[in-house]
Amino acid sequence: MMKKLDVVIIGGGMITYDLILPTIYHLQRTGVTGSIKICALDSAPLKTLKNSKEFAEAFPGQSFEAYPSLSEPEENKFPELYKEVIAGMKPRQIIVVAMPDQLHYPVVKEALNNNQHVLCVKPLVLKYEQAVEIEKIAYEKGLFVGVEYHKRFDRRSLMAKREYELKHFGEFIMGEAKLIEPYFYRSSNFQNWFTCDKTDPFVYIGCHYVDLVYFITGLKPVEVSVSGIKGKFPNGKEGYMWATGRVRFENGALFSVINGLGYPDQGAGSNEQNLQMFFEGPGKNGMLKHNDQFRGVEHSYLEGIGCGGSHFNYVSPDFYRIIPWEGEGYKPIGYGPESVSATIIMAGQIEGEVDGMNDSESLAKRKELIKKVDKKGIIATPANSYINELVVEAARLSILNDGDVVNIIYGKNPHVELRSKKK
Ligand SMILES: NC(=O)c1ccc[n+]([C@@H]2O[C@H](COP(=O)([O-])OP(=O)(O)OC[C@H]3O[C@@H](n4cnc5c(N)ncnc54)[C@H](O)[C@@H]3O)[C@@H](O)[C@H]2O)c1
Repeated sequence: MMKKLDVVIIGGGMITYDLILPTIYHLQRTGVTGSIKICALDSAPLKTLKNSKEFAEAFPGQSFEAYPSLSEPEENKFPELYKEVIAGMKPRQIIVVAMPDQLHYPVVKEALNNNQHVLCVKPLVLKYEQAVEIEKIAYEKGLFVGVEYHKRFDRRSLMAKREYELKHFGEFIMGEAKLIEPYFYRSSNFQNWFTCDKTDPFVYIGCHYVDLVYFITGLKPVEVSVSGIKGKFPNGKEGYMWATGRVRFENGALFSVINGLGYPDQGAGSNEQNLQMFFEGPGKNGMLKHNDQFRGVEHSYLEGIGCGGSHFNYVSPDFYRIIPWEGEGYKPIGYGPESVSATIIMAGQIEGEVDGMNDSESLAKRKELIKKVDKKGIIATPANSYINELVVEAARLSILNDGDVVNIIYGKNPHVELRSKKK
């Protein structure tokens, strides 16, 4: 009951290289998806993807159609080309949105207006109202939108969710997390878009852990305060290099997160990340602690081929690796590929279920299936992960106001409000 969908990826940067394209190549060769097109701002990232030795070894004989063409000089920019590429697709295929955060909203809307299912890297959008708009348009048209919060697919998160639901921990009361990305990110394409006015480390990666606490406990965040430290990228643009956020949840629980673009390139990393949560029970307490950095595997290479050029590495077998398998080349494994595949497979299954139905039956069935995924709460969707947009909105307001507390107000018209303005 599965239909093979064609895939268009918009954005050819780091996440496309490190996760999305290899996952989709594997889906393609195992018969799950059809053709692959990739559209980027210019030809440079497309050449990197096309000429990758790693992909040639892992996915022999597979390729994608590049927009713009690889023969275009790299300095020529095509900011609107994605519209033409999307318009050229058959209806109800899938668009993967993998470009800078602030571009997700117009591109997701373009995809929906052209009758396409969507997989969007996190965060879906930067404003709650935009998430609501996307949810509404998608539902009315019976189009599936999945948001790629891959930490939800890490086995330890899924285990924690189950144990919490079974009340094995008690009630969440206090927690902390950190996710510090490598220093070398500062010299990547980040310097072109990771500027103070657009985003910050809390919004970029802290939101993963806030989403996880919500995913595990079901508790909604109600108060956010984020402070940042600014610095200069090599190209002179100013961005927040570090951020610390504190989030209060609806039951009063407190959660703090530190984030940054600053894990030493020489470190065994490849980044630093972990989560600890404490829970109150009757006369005793529960706890969980995830070491998301050192997952028990150490490699020391002859050459500096590790992340950031290092020799000795803590290698995570959990997020994304390519490994030998029974087929040709190598196969991508981990919760990253599982998360990307989950949305693409779901869209294919939805299309499979409605195959052969007339238009109105098909629309009604697609809407029913979308609601089911929303309710299940495993794949993040606009309907079941909208708290993230509220947190992102609150975080941006807070960091730009020197860490002032921002309240998230739910009810009929959820919105965020700077506490100091209320007084
Ligand atoms: N942990 C995660 O879930 C995770 C990790 C990394 C990135 N991301 C998300 O992925 C997104 C992209 O991040 P990245 O690290 O790949 O960034 P990147 O800067 O490496 O790549 C951005 C890409 O977008 C393309 N682009 C920009 N404007 C475009 C336009 N108008 N039309 C077509 N393409 C355009 C650029 O050509 C580039 O290939 C961000 O939203 C980021 O938050 C998520």
